[in-house]
Amino acid sequence: MFEHITPAPADPILGLGEAFKSENRANKINLGIGVYKDAKGTTPIMQAVKEAEKRLFDIETTKNYLAIDGVADFNERTKILLFGEGSDLIKDRRAKTVQSLGGTGALRIAAEFIKRQTKAQNVWISSPTWPNHNAIFNAVGITIREYRYYDAERKVLDWDNLIADLTHASEGDVVLLHGCCHNPTGIDPTPAQWKQLAEMSAKNGWLPLFDFAYQGLGNGLDEDAVGLRTFAANHKELLVASSYSKNFGLYNERVGAFTLVAENEQIAATALTQVKTIVRTLYSNPASHGAATVAVVLADPVLRKQWEDELTEMRNRIKAMRTKFVALLKEFGANQDFGFITQQNGMFSFSGLNASQVDRLKDEFAIYAVRSGRINVAGITEDNIRHLCESIVKVL
Ligand code: LMR
Repeated sequence: MFEHITPAPADPILGLGEAFKSENRANKINLGIGVYKDAKGTTPIMQAVKEAEKRLFDIETTKNYLAIDGVADFNERTKILLFGEGSDLIKDRRAKTVQSLGGTGALRIAAEFIKRQTKAQNVWISSPTWPNHNAIFNAVGITIREYRYYDAERKVLDWDNLIADLTHASEGDVVLLHGCCHNPTGIDPTPAQWKQLAEMSAKNGWLPLFDFAYQGLGNGLDEDAVGLRTFAANHKELLVASSYSKNFGLYNERVGAFTLVAENEQIAATALTQVKTIVRTLYSNPASHGAATVAVVLADPVLRKQWEDELTEMRNRIKAMRTKFVALLKEFGANQDFGFITQQNGMFSFSGLNASQVDRLKDEFAIYAVRSGRINVAGITEDNIRHLCESIVKVL
């Protein structure tokens, strides 16, 4: 029966990690997968996380199953991070959260929920986007429509075409938005543009779905939530898929959350029962450790402050690398201005390199990046930046 199976293509992002592992050249650099590296090029466990794990070790008394929706305190604290302390929709109990297996798991729950419980015909996805968005919505059989996002010429948000394309979104269509640190471009709407988009969305009756995987890595926890909160203030209903992989460094613990906002508490509670049915059929109930760790950090003012300080340090290191990267490219004689890279947010940058330049970086210089030209700025360090910039100038 299995002899007819054909091989699946390697994942454009995770596949790179596998190739990188078997790379033997000493000066290899991985700018592929979106994982934070510190100045030494390692991906450490955050101190606040380590401390919370120690505490958990002492206070945990059972490994009994979690509820279908996961760690209750984690879910409550997730809502506060998303919508802010004192948010009306939290007070009105219009938001319901379930713990998920990372941001990807949350997106899959969202896709299943949309397919099974709404009349949405299309999901509108930015072009370009994280490739797994297309794969997830294809997997559940929802039609994908694209809206233009990136002006490759000017290296800015393609605002006019974004608006022009989204005027074709019908009432009830899902519009997928990157809450901050757009993956792969690193370019986000301004607060004024978020407002315009939220008004357009409310007027046209879209169902917004926020993919919010980088909160705190752009400009700050509250600053990065401006788009989501602007939409939340304008909408009766919306969905959020959020992740703690990056801002807590909990990649392999798979910690994320799916949050649903409804018009009132009763509708939200009913919808939650359907979300739980989805979870039950996908993986029954989630794993405890990562979410329990996040809950310990967020509940303790000292640990929370420590976490925020560490997150700030990460954000600042990425920003510093952006500045240095641009300056060194210039110093090494790049034939174009890369100044736009300092305007982008979060881990990623759309470098403007084309697929054949990216291939040359790998083949000739052992530098791995996504073939779209996306580079993970968080993978740049003081130790590798000169080799990186010299190599880029050679392939330009
Ligand atoms: C990325 O885009 O590199 C990350 O979100 C990791 C992933 O799962 O692709």
